[in-house]
Amino acid sequence: MADVVSIERVGPIGLIALDNPPVNAAGHGLRAGLVEAVETLEAEDGIAVIGLYGAGRTFIAGADIREFGKPPRDPWLPEVCNRLESCAKPIVSVLHGATLGGGLEVAMATHARVAVPGVRLGLPEVTLGILPGAGGTQRTPRLVGVKAALELATTGKHIGAEEALELGLVDRVMAGEPRNIALAAAEDLAAGVLAHRRTGELETPPDPGAIDAAKAHLAKTQSHLFAPHRVVEAIAAATLPLSDGLAEERRLFNACMDSPERAGLIHAFFAERAVARIPEGKAAPREVAKIGVIGGGTMGSGIATACLLAGFPVVLMDVNATSLDQGISAISSNLDGAVARGKMAQAARDAVDLTPATDLSALSGADLIIEAAFEDMAVKRDIFGTLGLVAKPGAVLATNTSYLDLDQIAAASGRADDVVGLHFFSPAHVMRLVEVVVGAGTAPEVVATGFALARRLKKIAVRSGVCDGFIGNRVMQRYRQAADHLMLDGAMPDRIDAAIRGFGFAMGPFEVSDLAGLDIAWARRKRLATTRDPAERYGGGVADALCEAGELGRKAGMGFYDHSGDAPVPNPRLGHLIANEQARLGIAPRAITEDEIVNRYMTAMIMEAARVVEDGIALRPIDVDAVFLFGYGFPRWKGGPLHYVDTTGAAAIVKRIETYAANDPQFWRVPEILAKMARSGHRFADMNEEA
Ligand code: 3HC
Repeated sequence: MADVVSIERVGPIGLIALDNPPVNAAGHGLRAGLVEAVETLEAEDGIAVIGLYGAGRTFIAGADIREFGKPPRDPWLPEVCNRLESCAKPIVSVLHGATLGGGLEVAMATHARVAVPGVRLGLPEVTLGILPGAGGTQRTPRLVGVKAALELATTGKHIGAEEALELGLVDRVMAGEPRNIALAAAEDLAAGVLAHRRTGELETPPDPGAIDAAKAHLAKTQSHLFAPHRVVEAIAAATLPLSDGLAEERRLFNACMDSPERAGLIHAFFAERAVARIPEGKAAPREVAKIGVIGGGTMGSGIATACLLAGFPVVLMDVNATSLDQGISAISSNLDGAVARGKMAQAARDAVDLTPATDLSALSGADLIIEAAFEDMAVKRDIFGTLGLVAKPGAVLATNTSYLDLDQIAAASGRADDVVGLHFFSPAHVMRLVEVVVGAGTAPEVVATGFALARRLKKIAVRSGVCDGFIGNRVMQRYRQAADHLMLDGAMPDRIDAAIRGFGFAMGPFEVSDLAGLDIAWARRKRLATTRDPAERYGGGVADALCEAGELGRKAGMGFYDHSGDAPVPNPRLGHLIANEQARLGIAPRAITEDEIVNRYMTAMIMEAARVVEDGIALRPIDVDAVFLFGYGFPRWKGGPLHYVDTTGAAAIVKRIETYAANDPQFWRVPEILAKMARSGHRFADMNEEA
């Protein structure tokens, strides 16, 4: 028997323990071991009932996702479930920790279920682009009805023990150690105190109304996805005899497995976790009990909110008393919003420890200080010069700069080993991404502290090297410029935005610019104007003209769009401004298709994303994907820009770049890494695996 499954005998009770750290994923060893254990105990005359439980932190968190896409190995999870259900002796399962997907399916195939308070139960397969494929679409509606089964399997939401009891998904809730519960529940099973039944032998009460409602809802909200619709079809088949329903489930499961959405969503799942593997992973993070935030603007107040939500005491500092007041009131309304949305308990809100200050010396007690002041090198160097003197020894000094050279900022502090970039995304208390920017002198434990802080804030940290814009904004600059070029070539901004939304982004580039404010990119264009190559086709002229007229985007009521009405409409001056710029640059506008918009935009993104890997700014391709998935609204089911290359093939991208380069060789150049991949047939996935 595989060593991840063990048997213990206590009188007439057989106990089976599953121990496959970290989450008891139902990989081949666990599946084979479980079947063998059940068959061993079934054959023993002295055993009357069986208790099944998870050693470690969970029952079973699901099928082993790492096996997806590899040749299947017997026994499959559906066979395991059928074998459990057909066992001649009743089995009770004890559900604790995460009992998700295939884990819940195993539990439903046993004959009684006991949930431990704190357990998370659910069918999250849909979030991975698949459906419950080990009988879940057939057994769940038999236990809880079609409507509740649809709710669980189309949303992937987790529920707790009490809710599961109310639904009829579990038979009992009991606190304690899983092994002790398994023993007690098995005794009750033997004594007839705890009822048992074979779920597969129950009938699903038909509910065509629930099926139709789910179909209509998903057609409206998730037409771009594949799996949720297949989930509904599979659950609709649960009124058939079990074997027919299971066959239909298998057919639909296989179709999901073959879908590109499945590959993208699973890549995103692993991206979220892979980014935590950093060279500084073994360094011990410094202790952080108190945080200082510099700057009462949108970023500073958002960062302070995120820290307060995580329970840190915060000192918010701004030299300008008016900005400080505005910051404090923005934080206050953020926190009230969090309470209203159930994200923060009222007691925690009442206990918030926020101190306003107008002098940097007030930060001397902070263990970690995050500067979110004006994006200007002189301002930042000045602040870090003072911090070097007033911050306590060992305090981590972080800057939220989105473009500036971290090493220059660090040098001003006189203690570069303490300095790191923590680049948050706006709104900082909502967006999950933080780029942890590592300078030439940053100490490993300071990097580790940045990652530890991100974890405490429930954010996803991605390690970046130093360059203009780090990973995200550097790449964004490139595709933002491609959008400007598309506009100059004849596609209006609202058409470009619509095409990019059609690809799956929540917003198009011009909508994003209006939301962020056009002045940020304007300041950067001015900063770089002196170093700009005169041969470069300058795309920023239209935005410059808007900025010069004070049309800075949504906050000014006007930008690329007019925001004065109920819904934004294109700025009426835009056509005129674009025509001026076309005339100035000698561009004859032409018709541009939606496909060309998407392809040029995506190719520009990929081109720079590949260079970020080539230059070693990102540790791995998957880190760049994570940045775009969690910070820039890249559609999760497409897995990120470099995963997207793997789906089209590097050769196709290289060909596109070469085609575009015929008109604009300055902008479009094939990165060496892509050229090599096109020649060798290698994929970014290979680089991720090697790393
Ligand atoms: N398969 C393989 N590895 C898994 C896994 C799974 N189902 N679930 C988690 N892991 C791995 C993670 O990749 C991570 O590995 P790493 O340390 O090498 O990066 C490790 O386990 C720990 O995971 P987390 O960092 O996510 O730990 P948390 O404590 O934060 O969360 C969890 C635990 C809630 C179980 C979370 O990992 C999770 O949601 N897992 C996925 C659950 C899921 O989707 N199950 C359904 C699978 S599909 C299925 O069952 C198909 C079936 O119907 C046939």
